[in-house]
Amino acid sequence: MTREVKMGMNRTGMQMSPRDSKELLQGSQRTVPTSEGDESMLAAMRGEYVMEADPLGSVPPPGTAKGMFKAGAEMLTGNRAEVLLDKLGERLAFERGGTRLYETLIMKCLAAPNGREVIQLDVLEEIHREEARHFDLLRAAIEQLGGDPTAMTPCADVTGVQSLGLVQAMNDPRTSIAQCVQTILIAELADNAGWELLIRLAQEMGHDELVQQFQEALAHEGRHLVTVRDWLEKLTLSEAKLLSTA
Ligand SMILES: [Fe+2]
Repeated sequence: MTREVKMGMNRTGMQMSPRDSKELLQGSQRTVPTSEGDESMLAAMRGEYVMEADPLGSVPPPGTAKGMFKAGAEMLTGNRAEVLLDKLGERLAFERGGTRLYETLIMKCLAAPNGREVIQLDVLEEIHREEARHFDLLRAAIEQLGGDPTAMTPCADVTGVQSLGLVQAMNDPRTSIAQCVQTILIAELADNAGWELLIRLAQEMGHDELVQQFQEALAHEGRHLVTVRDWLEKLTLSEAKLLSTA
């Protein structure tokens, strides 16, 4: 089984049929939007929906006495602890998703050994373990702040929706190792920016212990990013026969 990109029977481009493409262009010129048929009405209607829509869920109030106490203490400082809990929930969801993306990539590398000339399986497994540890770190941080790590916060919900494409691309049996590594690269870029924002937020709220732990996680993510970029570069160059990996 090879997943190398090849020239084949792809008929999606206009160049495949010059006669039809000419007709298509003529058609598009006949249907130029007029002032009555522009998108302003649609935009106005969408605007109404945006104005009327409820927010995407909420952060639950603390369900334990200890949580109540922590939330109360945070409120006395004037901070909105729910913002931190929401972002922690988001990172928790993303790290869980990231762990699963790596699990699939490991499975694919085992099934399709051609990627193994570039990807070191032990490094891949180490990154996977680190993502899982980050998940644990976030769970503990949420508990420490009196929150419920099993709650789906609004930002966690959005993250779930955003990640759907990554999960689909990764789990499609037809995607190559390089395409899967590209998918992971998107996750790692978001990972790095996500931890940076979380560190800033925790810093501003005076959670110094969390800041230290989050900085360690960010250091890991920095290494993941360098590694994944390097893998993608090598896989792509070797596919283009510009690099020998044998
Ligand atoms: Fe990562």
